[in-house]
Amino acid sequence: MHWWRVAALCASLAAGVAQAQERFSIFAGSPPDAVARMVQLAELGNGDHVVDLGSGDGRIVFAALEAHAGVRGWGVDLDPKLVHGANAEAQKRGLAERVHFLQQNAFDADLSKADVIFMWLWPELMYMLRAKILREARPGTRVITNIWDLGSWKPDYIDETPLPVNLWRVPAKVGGYWNWTLPLGGLNRNYAAVFEQHFQQLEGVVRSVDRRGIFSNPELHGTHISFALEMTLDGKGLTRHRFSGTVDGDRINGTVRVVRLVQGEETGERLELPWQATRSTTSAYFETTGLALR
Ligand SMILES: C[S@@+](CC[C@H](N)C(=O)[O-])C[C@H]1O[C@@H](n2cnc3c(N)ncnc32)[C@H](O)[C@@H]1O
Repeated sequence: MHWWRVAALCASLAAGVAQAQERFSIFAGSPPDAVARMVQLAELGNGDHVVDLGSGDGRIVFAALEAHAGVRGWGVDLDPKLVHGANAEAQKRGLAERVHFLQQNAFDADLSKADVIFMWLWPELMYMLRAKILREARPGTRVITNIWDLGSWKPDYIDETPLPVNLWRVPAKVGGYWNWTLPLGGLNRNYAAVFEQHFQQLEGVVRSVDRRGIFSNPELHGTHISFALEMTLDGKGLTRHRFSGTVDGDRINGTVRVVRLVQGEETGERLELPWQATRSTTSAYFETTGLALR
């Protein structure tokens, strides 16, 4: 963040600066402009459940419910007076059927039903909540913060001005071993892939028959995964594969586009095949190829 943004932020929290230095839990409501941009980033849909961890006077949850009639929500806050006030305000606004506020520590909140998680807590608290969010929230859940981000878990999108609001999609769990088979060149070819995952960032390698390759451009957005592979297949030559699918627990369902590469150019027949991968506890990737380096 630019120094002038930090300065602006500190000025806006001037009343709380003495407390801020000791990291007391203080209430500062997100400004109306930030609330509106956070709700917009949530891309709310019918049936969505939103939660604000550290809900203060409830303004973000109210704005979400008022923006979309099909949304329900709840908020948790440590401060009983704020919780009481937010519940009273929900009654006043005629929203009490669709929202409730609990006096609860954010670390005890049930995140399994949330489609959207809003937060504006001290950065170190939000960093510590990352593990809980990744463990409990369903893949694809949107996480939206005001101003501060989640450290090494980089946002998928930042709405920069006038101050940042940040969006993440909880990534599906993809790290580990995956197998699939493709009917190519008259053969059923087995692929044994190994993915390494750091938040939404992926790297991966694969083996098919006696060849090994490295995936290029791997991307993971919530449950959507895509990557490419260039590998020489016996009887087919150098072949580009583009995989794209949806992760559903221990399965991935999608499609793969396959085309030969001749001098770097895609050449000849382009195949599109269904692609179904399953998670495995062991991997043929590590079996010896029987080839020796000379
Ligand atoms: C900066 S205010 C944000 C309020 C509201 N989310 C907004 O953006 O307008 C932070 C709120 O989090 C609450 N809070 C701080 N630590 C918390 C925790 N561990 N669990 C629940 N609430 C917490 C504070 O009481 C305060 O109301």
